[in-house]
This record gives sequence, C-alpha cells and structure tokens, in this order.
Amino acid sequence: MAAQLRAALRRGRALAALAVAAAGGLLAAATLGSGPAGAAGGTLHDLAEAKGRYFGTALTQSNLSNSTLTAVAGAQFDMVTPGNEMKWDTTQPSATTFNFGPGDQIVSFAKAHSMRVRGHTLVWHSQLPSWVGSLPAAQVQAAMENHVATQATHYKGQVYSWDVVNEPFNEDGSLRTSAFYNAMGSGYIADALRTARAADPSAKLYLNDYNIEGVNAKSDAMYQLVSSLKSQGVPIDGVGLESHFIVGQIPSTMKANIQRFAALGLDVAVTELDDRMQVPASAANLAQQATDYATVIANCLAVSGCVGISQWGVGDADSWIPGAFGGYGAATMYDDNYQPKASYRSAVTALGGTAGSPSPSSSPSSSSSPSTPPTGSGCRVSTQINAWATGLTENVTVSNTGGSAVNGWSVKFTLPGGQTVTSAWNAAVSPAGGQVTATDLAYNAAIPAGGSTGFGFNANHTGNPAAATGFSLNGVACTVG
Ligand code: G3I
Repeated sequence: MAAQLRAALRRGRALAALAVAAAGGLLAAATLGSGPAGAAGGTLHDLAEAKGRYFGTALTQSNLSNSTLTAVAGAQFDMVTPGNEMKWDTTQPSATTFNFGPGDQIVSFAKAHSMRVRGHTLVWHSQLPSWVGSLPAAQVQAAMENHVATQATHYKGQVYSWDVVNEPFNEDGSLRTSAFYNAMGSGYIADALRTARAADPSAKLYLNDYNIEGVNAKSDAMYQLVSSLKSQGVPIDGVGLESHFIVGQIPSTMKANIQRFAALGLDVAVTELDDRMQVPASAANLAQQATDYATVIANCLAVSGCVGISQWGVGDADSWIPGAFGGYGAATMYDDNYQPKASYRSAVTALGGTAGSPSPSSSPSSSSSPSTPPTGSGCRVSTQINAWATGLTENVTVSNTGGSAVNGWSVKFTLPGGQTVTSAWNAAVSPAGGQVTATDLAYNAAIPAGGSTGFGFNANHTGNPAAATGFSLNGVACTVG
C-alpha cells in the first residue's frame, strides 16, 4: 500500500474512533493500556502497519451489536474476516437463492473503520448446505463454479483476499473427501482458484488450513500442492495458517515453515490465531499465552512474505473455543470484558511497541505479604455454583481490572449462614465459616493487569446454597458479575 494511502487510512481510522468515542461507546476502549483510541502508534494495527503487516480479527454479524466489542475491533484491528457470514450455508442456502446481506454488513463495518476484509470462504466441506451434498456428481462442478463466480463477483473489489478453498487436507496429508473432491478429484482446487481469479482479478487467492503451522505431514502436503499449482500456472497467491493453538504448544518449526512457503513466492498469513487453555485460566497459562503470542508474531515478522496476522474473534467472550472445546477458553488477547490481557501487551511489545508493565512473560512470583493494588486498582468476581441437598461446589474467578499486576492476593468474602467450607483448591482458605479469607498458593500469586485467577471450595450447607458475597481483593471491594 502506498504511504499516502496508508496515512489516509490512519486518518480515517482516527476519525472513526473519535466518532465512536463521541457517541459514548468507548468506555472499555479508553481503559485499554495505551487504549484503542489512545497513544498514537500504540494500537495493534498501527504497530503492524509500521512493520508492513496487518493485524486483523474475525467478526460475526451478532458481534456488531456489541458496542464494547466493536469499539475494540475498530480501534485495534485493520483487517476483518467474517466469522460465518461468507460461508456457503449463509450465502447460498438453496441452489437458486443467494444471500449476501450478512456478509455485506461485515464489509460495511470494515469500510466504516478503514479496515480491509479477508473473504472467508468460497469452497469448504463444512457449513455447506445439504443441497450441495445431494447433487448428482455430474452437477457439482457447475454448482461450485457458479457459487465461486457469483460470490466473488458480488464482493469484487471489496475484499483483500479470498480463502478460496478451506481446510482441504486430512491430518495425514491426504486430500479430504468432500462433495467437491468426490465429484471432481483433486482438480476441484485448481478449478475453484481459476474461477475466483476470473471473477475478481485483484483479490489475493489463498488456500487455508489448520495444523499446518509447523513442518509436518499436513503442511508438507500443502507445500506440495501449492508448489504444483504454481508450476502449472494456477492462480494461487497465499497460504493461510489458521493457528488455533494450545498454550505452550507453538510448533518450533513455525518460522521455517513460513519461510518455505514464502520462498515459493507466496504470501503467508496467520489467519485465525487463538491460544486456548483450561479455564479458569491460571496465571501461569496467561503468562505462557503472552509468550506464545509474542512467538507467533516474531515468526511472522521474521519472514517478509508473512503479510499479516488475524485473531479468531476479538475477545474471550466471543471466541469459538468454549463452545467447541469443553473446559477450554481464555484463548484471545482480551478477557470476557474486553480488557487487554498479558497476551495483548506481549503482542504490542513483539510488534515493536511499548506495552508498559507488567512484563507479560514474567513468571508468577510468590509473596507472603500480599501487595495492595495501587491507585486505579479494581477487581471483578464471578462465581459458579453446583449445589445438592446438603453441599455445594463453588468456583470463584477473580479478575484484576486494575492497571497494575497483583503479586500476592488475599480475597475476602462472606459465606451465607449455615455454610461451612470443607475443602478448597487453588487457594488456602480460612476460617471455614462466616467471614472467609482465601490466599494464593505462591504458584498462582500473580494476577496480571487484565488477567484473572480462579479458586474454588466445597462447603456444607443447611438449606441456603447461595453464592458467597462481599468479595474484596487485597482490601479493594470487587464488583460481582
Ligand atoms: O446459526 C445457528 C443457530 O440458528 C442455531 O441456533 C445454533 C445452535 O447451535 O447454531 C448456529 O450455527 C452455529 C454457527 O457457528 C453460527 O453461530 C453453528 O452451530 C456453529 O457450529 C458454527 O460454528 C462456527 C464454526 O466455524 C463451524 O465450523 C464458528 O462460529 C466459527 O467461528 C468457526 O470458524 C472456523 C473457520 O471458519 C475455519 N477454521 C476453523 C474455525 C473454528 O472452527
């Protein structure tokens, strides 16, 4: 992008952000570290653009009615991938019906915030309406070409790229069976690419898949495929590495893998980044997530052909992870209230910005004398209860909503009358009834600004299994919710 255009885009974004702020929708944004509308050069997209990259997010139609979410999205990101709105089941629910309304809404949001759009996706075995699978094999090619041509033509000039074929491979590197593969063999991929290029010559054409971030059988297969496509002159511009990670498991070969694709003359994009962990999130996992985000960003910045990174969702509250992986969550850079986590700060740092304290990769430190949070401290507590006739299990999540890390914590709360704690985890709890104090166990002493920690207990009750009340963190009253 020319420097002038980039500057114009930046001005446009600043105006859009101011407009949102003026409308009173930027409460969360204004508290985000340097803030989505804050210090110039401090947002993810500003920093990424300074490195010649973009930083994107996925957005769904329902996300657009959440003003906190959209304030963060509009301020921090410069690329949008529709989460579901450009998938076949939405855009062509029957053979004779096209519906671009939901996708158009995402494009409108992107335009209003000077963001570009990654089109996702034209041909995929999933979220495919049943009528396609029911077609006689002889009709599948025409149906696919019609779908690709109609959709790519509708969005011509409005999308930066298309994930033309999504997730074509099995884990062993063989091509996945699908309506398209079954009817057309491996040639469906080249056919889809050619059809997309004819419909929108300026969109970058990608193949996108998961578990191809490191060097392995599946990424080897993708490498062979795109090498072959290029040698045959089939239009292919990029490979998308979805990057749905688990904390601590970024493949050590990710940079080398990006390099080998880039060496073919292809763009590489991290298209759906998240980094899940068991919930409630531990301080150690949140710190590891911060390290992981920095690693992924460094891997991309190290290769000039890596053009950008997109997170799959804005925050933990809108992430697909809890719905797909029971017991897992906390996979993004923003917590359930769209407050930045340690991973946000480490991303800023990895992009060359200044994130402020705490050091996102610092290990939780033990402390026998809990520190009182400084001015601007705050906390929020949520509780979850499972009760039976005479007992209950209560899990408590404590979020540090202040601007500084807490190193060593003491959470006080009041048990309803008749409740007596019988056991606890992730905290030392005393005394067992009435006013209770739960303190950290050293390994979980640190709660980064924007981070959270969890503990729980079992209790007996005599008829009132309600949640505890009156929570405070290091003497500061917590909001509940
Ligand atoms: O729209 C229906 C709604 O009417 C119904 O009441 C509800 C009940 O389950 O389901 C709704 O559909 C859901 C749809 O998202 C829209 O919200 C589906 O159940 C749900 O399975 C679907 O999940 C999407 C998933 O793709 C499907 O594979 C996720 O939101 C979306 O984030 C996810 O995105 C994919 C990428 O496209 C490709 N890479 C992996 C990534 C994560 O799975």
